[in-house]
Amino acid sequence: MSKIKVVDGRYALVTGASKGLGFAYCEELLKLGYNIIGVARDTKTLESLKQKYPNRDIQHWNMDMSVFDNNHNLFEKAKMYDVEVLINNAGYGVWGYFAESEIEREMNMIDLNIKSLHVLTKLFLNRFQEQGYGRILNIGSMAAFVPGPVFASYYASKAYVWSLGVAINTELKKTKSKIRVVTLCPGPLKTDFWNRSSNQSDAPYHSSIKVMKTSTYAKKSLKAGLKAKKKNFIINGSSNKFVKRITSMVPLSWTLNAVYNYQKER
Ligand SMILES: NC(=O)c1ccc[n+]([C@@H]2O[C@H](COP(=O)([O-])OP(=O)(O)OC[C@H]3O[C@@H](n4cnc5c(N)ncnc54)[C@H](OP(=O)(O)O)[C@@H]3O)[C@@H](O)[C@H]2O)c1
Repeated sequence: MSKIKVVDGRYALVTGASKGLGFAYCEELLKLGYNIIGVARDTKTLESLKQKYPNRDIQHWNMDMSVFDNNHNLFEKAKMYDVEVLINNAGYGVWGYFAESEIEREMNMIDLNIKSLHVLTKLFLNRFQEQGYGRILNIGSMAAFVPGPVFASYYASKAYVWSLGVAINTELKKTKSKIRVVTLCPGPLKTDFWNRSSNQSDAPYHSSIKVMKTSTYAKKSLKAGLKAKKKNFIINGSSNKFVKRITSMVPLSWTLNAVYNYQKER
């Protein structure tokens, strides 16, 4: 793969930057030469990156992106910076049977996973079109490709992310735009996602599926996402690619059965 060249002084803005995948993206972006704007409800963990990368500017802004107005506030505040990359990464799930899961948590999840991502994608796409450069990486999931019994609203939210991103990127390519909106689709990663999604503080991660290290996934998916010209979405890892291929070949009832059995064990 050819090297990614970063213009001096350019910024990458990452939502959900304080831990997990978002933190790993920040570190990879710093290594590539970007300055960072990291956003989460509590971003103090990003202080550690300031010591490791003293020559880069690392902004960390505490904002709850499930609060609708904060999307406009974030966009306005970011106008002062030469932003080239937006990673819409903040997200979580609400695990459990649909009839039993709390509606307030589900609505908050939709505010974050869908509404925030939707608004930021539109605002930054317009800005990037005006300035003539920029790239948006939206974090979907392998959950985007199938309905998810026992994790229904989360899977549905990621289906929205995938569908929206693929459609926008197709418009951009058809209209010969230089801007891209690429959807990255991770499989399971060992992060705090599982604690928050199950509403437990110590939900042990368990899965029969081989899990890629979060830092490895961040590095691979970031490079692929920043370089993609034709691809609308990216799946990394042979087991994820296999799952995607097999689910398009077998009857939906088999897939639903497998996802039900996989999710109900959590
Ligand atoms: N882990 C997996 O297995 C997996 C698989 C596929 C896709 N994904 C997706 O990957 C993305 C990152 O998840 P992760 O695994 O890294 O989870 P994580 O470790 O729980 O990190 C989530 C990040 O989002 C931030 N966040 C949560 N609510 C927020 C809000 N209301 N406003 C602003 N920031 C908020 C969190 O920081 P604060 O708590 O400080 O706000 C944290 O920085 C999500 O979109 C997730 O759906 C994860």
